[in-house]
Amino acid sequence: MSVQNIDSVLQEERLFPPSSDFVQAAAINDAETLAALRRRAEEDYEGFWGDLARQELDWQTPFNNILDQSRAPHFRWFHDGRLNVSYNCLDRHLEARGDHPAIIFEGEQHDIKTLSYRELHAQVCRFANALKAQGIAKGDRVVIYMPMTPEAVVAMQACARIGAVHSVVFGGFSAESLKDRIEDAGARMLITADGGNRGGKIIPLKQAADKALAHGCPSIERVVVFKRTGHDVDFNAERDVWWHDAIDGMDSSCEPEWVEAEHPLFLLYTSGSTGKPKGIQHASGGYLLGAILTMKWVFDIKDDDIYWCTADVGWITGHTYVAYGPLAVGSTALIYEGAPTVPDSGRFWDICERHKVSVFYTAPTAIRALMKCGDDIPAKYDLSTLRLLGTVGEPINPEAWIWYHKVIGGERCPIVDTWWQTETGCNMIAPVPGVVATKPGSCTLPLPGVMADVVDDKGNSIREPNKGGYLVITKPWPSMLRTIWGDDERYVSTYWPKFDGKYYLAGDSARRDKDGYFWIMGRIDDVLNVSGHRLGTMEVESALVAHPRVAEAAVVGRPDEIKGEAIFAYVVLKGDRPEGGVDRALTKELRAWVAEQIGPIAKPDDIRYADNLPKTRSGKIMRRLLRSIAQGEEITQDTSTLENEGILLQLQGKA
Ligand code: WT7
Repeated sequence: MSVQNIDSVLQEERLFPPSSDFVQAAAINDAETLAALRRRAEEDYEGFWGDLARQELDWQTPFNNILDQSRAPHFRWFHDGRLNVSYNCLDRHLEARGDHPAIIFEGEQHDIKTLSYRELHAQVCRFANALKAQGIAKGDRVVIYMPMTPEAVVAMQACARIGAVHSVVFGGFSAESLKDRIEDAGARMLITADGGNRGGKIIPLKQAADKALAHGCPSIERVVVFKRTGHDVDFNAERDVWWHDAIDGMDSSCEPEWVEAEHPLFLLYTSGSTGKPKGIQHASGGYLLGAILTMKWVFDIKDDDIYWCTADVGWITGHTYVAYGPLAVGSTALIYEGAPTVPDSGRFWDICERHKVSVFYTAPTAIRALMKCGDDIPAKYDLSTLRLLGTVGEPINPEAWIWYHKVIGGERCPIVDTWWQTETGCNMIAPVPGVVATKPGSCTLPLPGVMADVVDDKGNSIREPNKGGYLVITKPWPSMLRTIWGDDERYVSTYWPKFDGKYYLAGDSARRDKDGYFWIMGRIDDVLNVSGHRLGTMEVESALVAHPRVAEAAVVGRPDEIKGEAIFAYVVLKGDRPEGGVDRALTKELRAWVAEQIGPIAKPDDIRYADNLPKTRSGKIMRRLLRSIAQGEEITQDTSTLENEGILLQLQGKA
């Protein structure tokens, strides 16, 4: 695993400064203010974070100690202070903004409701009291397996209110994954729903939960079931309780449990390159500080914004930018339960128009899928309330970026491309949009206080422009993960394995251009070595999707006797898949195209056409699976989360 000499050959030169209207209205809108923040962080790192933590958070007991590094790489932030995350998200807004909408919810069937801060606070308190009545106390783990409804946020906030540690499991995960996560966390309670709505169908959550519990999960004592769909479900009277019965008669105020800043707020399971999912453990104070600051710095959030992050609460993005960040700053979060294609692929734009969404945050995979549907669909909607757009999750290819910018943003809205991870808790490398000009495909510059670097195998900073290396964070930051639940050794060996354990290893490769902008090149294990040249898989993919006939592409390496690694590309075309998955003329054209875009070195050796790419339900391409297929290996990976198992044969060239 070496990233030395990763050569970057794909270079994007276009620069997009924010419009003068945007600059005028932005909270941080001059280079000097931003530079002063960065300077302060450089000169007095602890003072910088300490001041912000005092300014942005309400503390029940103020802290004296800012950063404790005595047990590195286990860091503690503000550890002698006490606070409550739910109090910071709800109570502190009640006086000035009690009637302001906290959540606007829209279901797939157009069931719409709005909850003011006062109403959300009352719901959270009642449910928190119900949790206590069911015997849940500080430190207990509670697994949440819910549809994307306001009650998912209520459940998370209620846990935070009483100091219980939630672990949200994405509703698209199977019973088996749910069971593994419940068992790893040792959860006492499961909060679920009869079902959820997506694509006109019912997602049978309770059924999956029953199945998970039937095969294990001895730690679960109680299952709380929210009635969402109203269809018939099995009910175990000794174990299960309906949400509406559990809150019946509960008081709508609940004194928050004041916890130490380091008290775990939640666990969130994420996959690593090997082994079972890791329970990423986040703390309370530092995490919330990161969420608040990035809502302000990156999303430039204002009192009257309608903020829509399309992520499910089952992912870190849905934690930080749905359930916590928008509320902590007193903003309005929009939540949509259904699919983007119901009743048609204009649904997102329809929601933006009707609810006057001003800040919209989604993933490149969604942008590409909607782009594929054509420009005439968004053209039907009034998107003029949008003022800022965001992307997260993978590098966005310049073609999709430009489409997002022109067709959705009307060339008016800056695009914040935000690099971060489940582990980092909040945006780390991203533009401060009133100041930093953007470049399509770059997440731009580290935020103030984020000490990101690109280093070689020995940990030396790479200064030469466009030379790739390891992306590392050289100083601890408040919203960082604290450990992996139940496997601290894995925490140390995964994130601090090199450079004498001094730098946090993100697992991504990156380069910096001549302006110091960061370009994420892919995961370390996604780096190809072709004839001694290292190439980011993403660069080849980006070149492929720039071809007018290509909708999506995934590139992996296949061992090659002569070149070291050969490039294997899986391609989804904009029209129909060629008969039998073969089109020699097009393959020749695409190879020449990539050669032209990047250089002959990057030409794919094999191209296979499929109707779609193997993705997890969260939209991540299953690269290890593609690598196995490229190498003609037996498939040993779990393919149960595949959206369409039938494409395996296509990818293998057997259909
Ligand atoms: C990995 C983290 C953080 C929320 C969503 C994913 C990739 C994330 C970007 C971006 C290029 C990105 C990285 C990272 N990634 N954002 N803006 N540009 N790559 O969270 O599942 O923890 O995945 O996603 O490879 O390490 P996650």
